[in-house]
Amino acid sequence: MIKIRNDFPFFSGANPITEKIIYLDNAATTLKPRVMLDELLNYYQFETANIHRSNHHLASISTSKFEETRTALKCFLNASSTNEIIFTKSATESINLIASSLGKSILHPDDTILLSQMEHHSNIVPWQLIAKTTGARIQVVPMNDDGELDLMEYKKMLNERVKLVSIVHISNTLGTINPVAEMITLAHEFGAYFILDAAQSFLHEKIDVQLLDPDFLVCSAHKALGSTGLGILYGKKSLLESMPPYMGGGEMIHHVSFEKTLYNDLPYKFEAGTPPIGQVIAFKKSLEYILSIGLEKIQQYENALLSYATHALTQIPNLRIIGNAQKKSAIISFLLGNIHPSDVGTLLDKQGLALRVGTHCTEPLMTRLKIPGTVRASFAFYNTLEEVDSLKHALIKIQDFY
Ligand code: ALA
Repeated sequence: MIKIRNDFPFFSGANPITEKIIYLDNAATTLKPRVMLDELLNYYQFETANIHRSNHHLASISTSKFEETRTALKCFLNASSTNEIIFTKSATESINLIASSLGKSILHPDDTILLSQMEHHSNIVPWQLIAKTTGARIQVVPMNDDGELDLMEYKKMLNERVKLVSIVHISNTLGTINPVAEMITLAHEFGAYFILDAAQSFLHEKIDVQLLDPDFLVCSAHKALGSTGLGILYGKKSLLESMPPYMGGGEMIHHVSFEKTLYNDLPYKFEAGTPPIGQVIAFKKSLEYILSIGLEKIQQYENALLSYATHALTQIPNLRIIGNAQKKSAIISFLLGNIHPSDVGTLLDKQGLALRVGTHCTEPLMTRLKIPGTVRASFAFYNTLEEVDSLKHALIKIQDFY
């Protein structure tokens, strides 16, 4: 791991701020490897050009590099065609695109959209907006107190009125890894489309879209060693082809006249306007870097970190872990006695530990658990056991202080 940390400028000791910080907020956004940052800078310094427009040398370089990332993503997810990979500005925009484009076309009054109790706001609000305009209704798959979805109840809720199921793969708040393979198969038995929110799993679980078979998958680059401002939407080609455009503008057209516009083919039909070119190009480096370590190795290491951290934190009297699913990713939400999570966060920050506190954009989950929020430690493969020890000692200090 020490070797891996050398790949991240954050750990280089070159910056007086990061030098003193223990970063345990990887579910909010991961740190960035040097290879990705170098490529991003190279685009802005030496290869700046718009894509798919001009025919000069620089434009060809950036266009081919941009499309190479699409190919890399196709391979990473094992999609069957590059036409199934759409670049957006965030996972949130990807969900809004599906809700608006597909949702508007297929939902009718009294149709059902199934979500779960642990969804991020970005997988709730876009559906509420579309439910309002179509007359569809939202139903929520419940979970138990450990933060595991109730599969029996899910089966009961499925019927021919359910048109869409949109579920998070790994809960950003609890770390629960949901049984999405089974849920996808069940949804398909009832003819419902399944949208997999993979924002939190993309870097931590191997996903083969042909094997898992979701109809759509959304994720964001910044949670997987990439830069902000870049989201990904995978969709089955036949579905994407049947969907109307989400946004109008340049690049998503074949031909425009004031009388009639012909839309472009996939994937460009959904990529109106100048996309985040530098971010896309640089993300190929993140993907290559992830593959050079290996997703299995990442998973193994993070599982070991999770076990170590769970054991360490349960040694602290009055610390309650929120979310004890059998299958978990390396995220630990917790409460420390009766101390408000924001106070714990502030005191951790004073000791140099960066964690997120609050509702983590999952307010309905907090309501279900009857808590105001949590303190959340979220780990990545570059975190160390020593950093977990520092978290434990910092929490003990806070408790002693109270
Ligand atoms: N969804 C991100 C988080 O969990 C921002 O912090």
